[in-house]
Amino acid sequence: MCGIVASVTQRNVINILVKGIKKLEYRGYDSAGLAIINDQKNIMRIRCVGKVNELIKKVKEKNIFGNIGVAHTRWATHGKISKENTHPHISSNIVVVHNGIIENSSQLRNFLIKKGYIFYSETDTEVIAHLLHWEQNKKKEHLKTAIQKTIKQLYGNYSMVVIDQRSPSELIAVRSSSPLVIGLGSEENFVASDQIALLDVTKRFIYLEEDDIAIIKNREINIFNKRNTIIHRKEMYSNIQYNTVEKTGYRHYMEKEIYEQPESIRNTLKYRLQENNTVYFSELEKKEKKLLKNLENIQIVGCGTSYNAAMVAKYWFESLVNIPCHVEIASEFTSRKPAISKNTVLITLSQSGETADTLLALRYAKKLNYLGNLTICNMEGSSLVKESDLCLLTKSGIEIGVASTKSFTTQLTVLLMLVAQIAQIKKKTHIEKKIVQNLYMLPIRIENVLKKDQSIKIIADQICDKNNVLFVGKGELYPIAIEGALKLKEISYIHAEGYPAGELKHGPLALIDQNTPVIVIAPKNALWLKIQKNIHEIALRDGLIYIFSNYNDYHENNTFFIKLPYVEELIAPIFYTIPLQLLAYHVALNKNRNIDQPRNLAKSVTVE
Ligand code: AGP
Repeated sequence: MCGIVASVTQRNVINILVKGIKKLEYRGYDSAGLAIINDQKNIMRIRCVGKVNELIKKVKEKNIFGNIGVAHTRWATHGKISKENTHPHISSNIVVVHNGIIENSSQLRNFLIKKGYIFYSETDTEVIAHLLHWEQNKKKEHLKTAIQKTIKQLYGNYSMVVIDQRSPSELIAVRSSSPLVIGLGSEENFVASDQIALLDVTKRFIYLEEDDIAIIKNREINIFNKRNTIIHRKEMYSNIQYNTVEKTGYRHYMEKEIYEQPESIRNTLKYRLQENNTVYFSELEKKEKKLLKNLENIQIVGCGTSYNAAMVAKYWFESLVNIPCHVEIASEFTSRKPAISKNTVLITLSQSGETADTLLALRYAKKLNYLGNLTICNMEGSSLVKESDLCLLTKSGIEIGVASTKSFTTQLTVLLMLVAQIAQIKKKTHIEKKIVQNLYMLPIRIENVLKKDQSIKIIADQICDKNNVLFVGKGELYPIAIEGALKLKEISYIHAEGYPAGELKHGPLALIDQNTPVIVIAPKNALWLKIQKNIHEIALRDGLIYIFSNYNDYHENNTFFIKLPYVEELIAPIFYTIPLQLLAYHVALNKNRNIDQPRNLAKSVTVE
């Protein structure tokens, strides 16, 4: 899950490369590098460990100029974080930047070493560069032919861009598994892993499909498919506003994205909630609705936060429309042979639409006996959207912070609307009406709870020096406890676990002491009395308890109450996520963590 930017232009390519790669830092930020071919046809390469800002500093010192170049920001998979392992990798006249993993790289490396190639890095990408050079020089092949011969020998996924000192007017882009998009300019063209890297130089894009190879010059683009036939790919115009990827006054993208949730939910509800208390998805015409009409079971797969959304949805599908719903972590789903009940629809959940584990789960399911598949995704042009039968988009806009926030609450919003859609099909109009009326209230409810930011900050100040934190909830709020723990883990690096409240006495209660805060999510609902007992169990062992609720009836020792505004029971899981996002944010702020780019993580995980 690295980021790639490349361009062939009439002007100095450097600016395009560094500005673009800076926008892709969310894809990996272990190290960054770029290479250009200058007017003297020399390859100039600059690399450094750390964030893109380090690279920008170095580039400024060097003052280099060229009309063609590639840039890369790395999330280490093959080889440690070091300058030597930083892209671009060079083999004599060949320069490669790559996103993906080559599974047979060690065999190829041994073959190339026997052919006299010297390796300066531990990466699989340098293997590609040397193999390309080998294929190109074996029979003096054109670069494209050498690339076609090379990729036939590669196992794994390998989106890449190649430039060649011998032909400095063209760059070649190859798409395999991870995304690549071409940006169209006048007298210049661009390539990137994600359109947002190029929004300030163009709005016109062509998405490369699987196995496409594109030869890109500043006035000409030719795309070849797997059979080496020239093909046409549709040009898309991007409506994404450039400033949506600016912080606009917030300290971090995550803070901005937390505060954008009322708006992102309004956008996701727009045109889908009807005045007559019904739901309408423009994406679901007659044919699509037939799939929902015939479905008898649901299987949902996803990873991380998306999987947590699936866990909430299970409660809704089963309790509101009586449809058995199985949820599974995508990487586990592909590791087993599922027993598939009759007329089961597979639902994939993903913010990025490029998560390799979820993509592989979809491709695996397509070979199995599912009735059909539907994805709920936030990125229109993504692989998951393209490869799915049906797609319902969350409209939360671009999410830059690695910790998913608005994409989670809009996923839950679409899932609840999907329940309403199925209720409509099953003529359960009272259920549909109830869901629609509750969803109408959601943006306002979230605006209310965002006003509790400062009181949540006080709790963050009290727990930020702790090493372990437990989150507990009951029913639909149990997955929200897990989501709260995930947010705290991934941005503050404090160890945190989410548990069903009733499960503590079966083991985790042993962790309870004055140094392990317990965050309890306990709105006044049908399960309130039950969770009281669990809170009491913790208090009896002198636990440190923080209760997030709209109802204060706690008289236990060491218990702190965070009063939250009222919310309808049905939408409570979405609502109670917000204070946990804010809690994690303030703890990470107190610990001076890199909130938008937490260590060891990246926004879209495009490798298995
Ligand atoms: C959540 O904050 C993380 N960024 C991560 O767990 C994420 O949810 C997971 O990688 C799935 O990503 P996706 O929704 O883009 O598929």
